Amino acid sequence: MPAYSYARSLDNSFKASWKLEEVLERTRFDRSLRWMPPALSGSAEAACLDEQGRRALTQVELASYAHLFGYVEAFIAPKVNVLAADFALCDLPAFEALSNFTAEEVKHMNLFRAVRERVDAALGFELELVGGAEETARFVLGKNTGAVLLLITAIEWMTQRHYLDCIRDDARLDPATRALFKAHWQEESQHAQLDHLETLRAFVGMQPAERERAVDDLIELVLAVDGLLLRQSELDLANLERCLARSFAPAEREQLFGALLKAKRWTFLLSGVTHPRFQELFAEVTTPAQRARVAKALEALERMPVLDC
Ligand SMILES: [Fe+2]
Ligand SMILES: [Fe+2]
Repeated sequence: MPAYSYARSLDNSFKASWKLEEVLERTRFDRSLRWMPPALSGSAEAACLDEQGRRALTQVELASYAHLFGYVEAFIAPKVNVLAADFALCDLPAFEALSNFTAEEVKHMNLFRAVRERVDAALGFELELVGGAEETARFVLGKNTGAVLLLITAIEWMTQRHYLDCIRDDARLDPATRALFKAHWQEESQHAQLDHLETLRAFVGMQPAERERAVDDLIELVLAVDGLLLRQSELDLANLERCLARSFAPAEREQLFGALLKAKRWTFLLSGVTHPRFQELFAEVTTPAQRARVAKALEALERMPVLDC
């Protein structure tokens, strides 16, 4: 496993850092292009849509991607801020690296808010997006620190996969999307390494009973994230109907909702928890039985009936 360090992450962060205005300057969406790649979109399984409909679906999905990332960063930033305070007087490199991490997440929240506004302007209406960010942040921050850090680590690693595996080499995507994801990837790369260090720190002093509680809490957090994905998939479907100025028949709704939810579960849960760096960390802080419990919870999500047409 690579040896991460707070000081090196901070150095790399200063090298990769970008200004919000510079990224927003490049964020001008083109409605004739796709805004999300096939691997992060339900469009590939939306057989009932023509090419224009599939393109519109990716445009609606970019809004919810930006919204959901801003949503999770609303609990990541305060959590990392609290962790930074642990080092304030005793470990300057760790304090500086985690404080800088917090500041970058605040910048990303502003970036994603601006992106959502630009999507609304480009599509010509205010898209419906899942609410309750403050309650969700309170719920998450009330959970065991080890569990919260495992969730955050999975989220940060998934951003690496999204850009490197799905976007960097897709020349058919809107250049605005590619620039946006590239900027986020550049700064998230350091975050994932700092999450790794902080997760090890959280687990190192835990007794077996507390580790069990951390795994219980992690499963609750995964179910909570899935609840958000369910609600946003329903809203994406409503946004798509508005975007295309048409209503879907029940069979079409079922197909589209299934495609949207499957893509969101991959994008926001599975692409993170299956990342090799996350798996290495997870194996270091949990037992095989605990990992099996989490895997079972993830498998159960796939079998849930979801849409009331
Ligand atoms: Fe971020
Ligand atoms: Fe991050």
